Amino acid sequence: MLFFSTPQLFTLSALGAVVCSKILNHYDTRDIWSTLNQSVHGRLHASAPFALPCFSSYNGKPFQGDPAACSSIQKNYNSSLFRDQFFNGYMNFQDEVCASVAGDGCLLDNSDPSDPLAYKNVSCNQGSVPEHYIDVQEPDDVIKALKFAKETGIRLSIKNSGSSNSGRNSLKGSLGLWVRHLNNISYDRNFTPEGCRAANTAQMSVTVGAGVNNGEVMQYSGIHNFTFAGAYADIVGVSGGWVQGGGEGVLCPVYGLGADRVLQYKIVTPDGVLRIANACQNQDLFWALRGGGGGTFGVVLESTHKVEEAFNVTIANITFPRTPANYLPFVDRIINSTAQWAQEGWGGNINPGIFVTVTPLLSLAQANESLKSITDFALSQNGTAVLESLTYVDFYNKFVRPFPPPIGTAHALSTRLIPTAMFKTPAARAKMLSFLQNYAKQRSYAYIIPVGPVLFPHVLNSTSYTPAWLDSYWLLGLHPPEWAWNSTVAQKREVVEATWTIDKSIEELTPGSGTHFNEADPFTRDWRQAYWGDNYEPLVQIKRKYDPDGLLNCFRCVGFEEDDQGFECYRGLGGGQ
Ligand SMILES: Cc1cc2nc3c(=O)[nH]c(=O)nc-3n(C[C@H](O)[C@H](O)[C@H](O)COP(=O)(O)OP(=O)(O)OC[C@H]3O[C@@H](n4cnc5c(N)ncnc54)[C@H](O)[C@@H]3O)c2cc1C
Ligand SMILES: *[C@@H]1O[C@H](CO)[C@@H](O)[C@H](O)[C@H]1NC(C)=O
Ligand SMILES: *[C@@H]1O[C@H](CO)[C@@H](O)[C@H](O)[C@H]1NC(C)=O
Ligand SMILES: *[C@@H]1O[C@H](CO)[C@@H](O)[C@H](O)[C@H]1NC(C)=O
Ligand SMILES: *[C@@H]1O[C@H](CO)[C@@H](O)[C@H](O)[C@H]1NC(C)=O
Ligand SMILES: *[C@@H]1O[C@H](CO)[C@@H](O)[C@H](O)[C@H]1NC(C)=O
Ligand SMILES: *[C@@H]1O[C@H](CO)[C@@H](O)[C@H](O)[C@H]1NC(C)=O
Ligand SMILES: *[C@@H]1O[C@H](CO)[C@@H](O)[C@H](O)[C@H]1NC(C)=O
Ligand SMILES: *[C@@H]1O[C@H](CO)[C@@H](O)[C@H](O)[C@H]1NC(C)=O
Ligand SMILES: *[C@@H]1O[C@H](CO)[C@@H](O)[C@H](O)[C@H]1NC(C)=O
Ligand SMILES: *[C@@H]1O[C@H](CO)[C@@H](O)[C@H](O)[C@H]1NC(C)=O
Ligand SMILES: *[C@@H]1O[C@H](CO)[C@@H](O)[C@H](O)[C@H]1NC(C)=O
Ligand SMILES: *[C@@H]1O[C@H](CO)[C@@H](O)[C@H](O)[C@H]1NC(C)=O
Repeated sequence: MLFFSTPQLFTLSALGAVVCSKILNHYDTRDIWSTLNQSVHGRLHASAPFALPCFSSYNGKPFQGDPAACSSIQKNYNSSLFRDQFFNGYMNFQDEVCASVAGDGCLLDNSDPSDPLAYKNVSCNQGSVPEHYIDVQEPDDVIKALKFAKETGIRLSIKNSGSSNSGRNSLKGSLGLWVRHLNNISYDRNFTPEGCRAANTAQMSVTVGAGVNNGEVMQYSGIHNFTFAGAYADIVGVSGGWVQGGGEGVLCPVYGLGADRVLQYKIVTPDGVLRIANACQNQDLFWALRGGGGGTFGVVLESTHKVEEAFNVTIANITFPRTPANYLPFVDRIINSTAQWAQEGWGGNINPGIFVTVTPLLSLAQANESLKSITDFALSQNGTAVLESLTYVDFYNKFVRPFPPPIGTAHALSTRLIPTAMFKTPAARAKMLSFLQNYAKQRSYAYIIPVGPVLFPHVLNSTSYTPAWLDSYWLLGLHPPEWAWNSTVAQKREVVEATWTIDKSIEELTPGSGTHFNEADPFTRDWRQAYWGDNYEPLVQIKRKYDPDGLLNCFRCVGFEEDDQGFECYRGLGGGQ
């Protein structure tokens, strides 16, 4: 394990020197940007942090704030759909600050965005927000950016919805590529991947530009009467991090992960070539893009996903007042029923007190029977249990869409895939129960996401996400401590270390398992194993083949090297292996 214990590993100017090593002076700098701008038809834009209009100093120099813009930012500070409109609208603030350098960010107090302490007489600093970005509209924009990166040594970063919780959509000193405006969407009842023979492979599918998000596909699927097995939030981009890094949602137990269902990508690889990757061409790249993670194999412009005829799901909405006394009997019942529920197609989100799961496989009467142990329990606790049948889109619009998760915080995650073996014997179940009990005593209630693709007929080695997914019932979420908007660097480092302790406790219970790359602790120590297992080595080889010059990279993505100084904003807080 590499452990970076020196607090101040580098200074801002040292980092600038690394990033701009090939740029000689100010005039050259202006010149390269305007040349780039011309080559991308004026789609290059300058960018500053999201909350800048509230500040009167920017990067240490006096700045004329904008009270009207500031007030709108304050009012919408926790709104994902508001931030979504802007290149600099990151969902989690760890993506926009340079966390390992004191004060290198531009944040409001998220508990009270009007708190003047955050911005009065405080400098708004650039943090990890790129100073320039291209509003990508066609493949050539990406090809020009790659050429620019190769010639200048300036790094690239790719941003879609800005939902990453691991700082992978930004990079200090980089040229940003924003794909949000690639918003075409279409569907085809008889899609054949390009280069494949139609007779064997025609499938119903939806094709989306890289900027289209989950909420947009869901609404489109309602209009065109099909089912898209997507994510559990409007904001999440479909072609970007979600599908490339695995991608889970409540239909996964029956329909597989996002990566299982993707049929084709259009992608500009770092060697500057627009490629089609599917089961019949560039198969190695296709495999890598089915779980290897966004941000490193190329810039995806479009993806095509298998969809299903519209169908109903049976929904259970079970709630009860949570008390310290009812937690243990509640999770005991959950653990005992997990294997059976998985066979019945149940997927969802289980928090103590609030339990929403759906299955496309059971009728209302069957669901009633299946959930009896838990509905009886909820009612005994003065809770409620309601079963209903809705089309998947109607379910989404009732249970998911109206409740966008609040953002604008430093969202912290520590997750683990819990193998089916943990549910098979009384002894293993007892261990699982005692883990959750101890965790609840020491920290808080875990959240259970039963989404392992256990009924999906997965084709051996068709995807590159960790194989641990294939033999797991749950993705288990623990609640690590979070950075505050004003945490010091030392406090952030303490949080990273406290999260390691939490990671370790669940790793010890489930040795050899892994986690969902998209929802993991970004500081996971043995990250290659945890995110990809044995798929890591072939993934790196594919990465090198398509990116021989190392033009794309992101923090703890495939091909990331622990000593890469360009990632000091993150790396400076906690080393991996
Ligand atoms: C509110 C919220 C809800 C979530 N819900 C779910 C959920 O239900 N299920 C689930 O599985 N995950 C969920 N996630 C996690 C989500 O899958 C990841 O954050 C994912 O990385 C988001 O991808 P994005 O493209 O939308 O975001 P971004 O942060 O913009 O990008 C994430 C990564 O993908 C890369 N990338 C983006 N676009 C492209 C592209 N076109 N080509 C190449 N690389 C690209 C970026 O460089 C970055 O590395 C949620 C996250 C949030 C914040
Ligand atoms: C790029 O050119 C466009 C159109 O001429 C202009 O509006 C924009 O401000 C330029 N971008 C930068 C960063 O100068
Ligand atoms: C602003 O901060 C500077 C330096 O920290 C200090 O000298 C100055 O008095 C402050 N001004 C106000 C109005 O607080
Ligand atoms: C989007 O669709 C339009 C109309 O079909 C097409 O002209 C355009 O090229 C598409 N854009 C992209 C980026 O694929
Ligand atoms: C899985 O497929 C990839 C891509 O084709 C290949 O590189 C890798 O070696 C395969 N892994 C196994 C275990 O066969
Ligand atoms: C939607 O598709 C389903 C499944 O094919 C069908 O039963 C239903 O009638 C369709 N609804 C509409 C409004 O077309
Ligand atoms: C349920 O409510 C009844 C009546 O208010 C009360 O007597 C009982 O203690 C409650 N049960 C639990 C488990 O909270
Ligand atoms: C299950 O069925 C029984 C008998 O019809 C009914 O009383 C009960 O309310 C049902 N449970 C749920 C959660 O719908
Ligand atoms: C399917 O869901 C719709 C509403 O989304 C509902 O009207 C219909 O009754 C349901 N069908 C069945 C068979 O339950
Ligand atoms: C789920 O049930 C609870 C308790 O009855 C209720 O308050 C909530 O509105 C329900 N959720 C939805 C989306 O209907
Ligand atoms: C944002 O915060 C406001 C005020 O605290 C609250 O009313 C609103 O529900 C929050 N929005 C989201 C999306 O959580
Ligand atoms: C769960 O299963 C264990 C045996 O594995 C048993 O001792 C326990 O009573 C069961 N819990 C419930 C609530 O049925
Ligand atoms: C951060 O701000 C809160 C108020 O929002 C304050 O209570 C706390 O002391 C501050 N922490 C630091 C390290 O300045």
